[in-house]
Amino acid sequence: MTIHFIGAGPGAPDLLTLRGRDLIEGSPVCLYAGSLVPAALLDHCPPGARIVNTAPLSLDDIIAEMAAAHADGHDVARLHSGDLSIWSAVGEQLRRLRALNIPFDVTPGVPSFAAAAAALEAELTLPGLAQSLVLTRTPGRASTMPSAESLAAFGATGATLAIHLSIHNLAQTVENLIPHHGADCPVAVVWRASWPDQRIVRATLSTIEQAVAGSMERTALILVGQVLGSPDFGESSLYAPDYDRRFRPQSADSRFAESSE
Ligand SMILES: C[S@@+](CC[C@H](N)C(=O)[O-])C[C@H]1O[C@@H](n2cnc3c(N)ncnc32)[C@H](O)[C@@H]1O
Repeated sequence: MTIHFIGAGPGAPDLLTLRGRDLIEGSPVCLYAGSLVPAALLDHCPPGARIVNTAPLSLDDIIAEMAAAHADGHDVARLHSGDLSIWSAVGEQLRRLRALNIPFDVTPGVPSFAAAAAALEAELTLPGLAQSLVLTRTPGRASTMPSAESLAAFGATGATLAIHLSIHNLAQTVENLIPHHGADCPVAVVWRASWPDQRIVRATLSTIEQAVAGSMERTALILVGQVLGSPDFGESSLYAPDYDRRFRPQSADSRFAESSE
């Protein structure tokens, strides 16, 4: 038996990978992080499955559920929102399972920043404006930040920022970023990206607080950067007509001429 850690996506039930769906269908036990994982995904559980919302459980309780399923020879589908590689508390579960010699595997999911970018119909890395995306957060009650990972430090790079878990810190976020990105820098807040009640507020750093006006809580992403504003950016060289490349050699003398076949 195996504990299958599965990225459950940002909210829309059809933003689940086919692999994730098949693993849920084949697992007689499903543990899901009920605060964010859409309930519709549980429809994929087989009839009679043991389905447990882990939101009220401690880490010890969750591992005990996994160990019990392991002892019974049952596969477990373990669902976390978005992708598992960011803010999923998966690391500590994997460490416990390694220590207990309980086998597991990991299936990625659609992260919320990607769902938010899709909702905005935006590319977050545009030539000449930003070529880096910082996935970050501000400190929370349960999580401090390493001292070097401040918004000011990331803001100084001018990179696009996707700020998670921070809608309640919007005022502080704006204050920290204005000196670096500028008061006119475009901002978008996407609340419940991909859910039926998704909402988007677009503004600038100086106007976003007023635009949101406390109307959004918890499941929101704050995206900051010039990529969200002006259409005045360069085109990538990759598709330029005269760009010599492996799949489109420009002449018989091109170093790519032979390798393109
Ligand atoms: C505990 S983190 C989980 C992140 C998740 N693992 C991911 O891949 O996006 C929760 C935060 O992710 C963001 N988030 C998750 N789902 C979202 C959604 N559908 N729309 C907007 N933000 C979302 C919010 O910032 C929320 O506070």
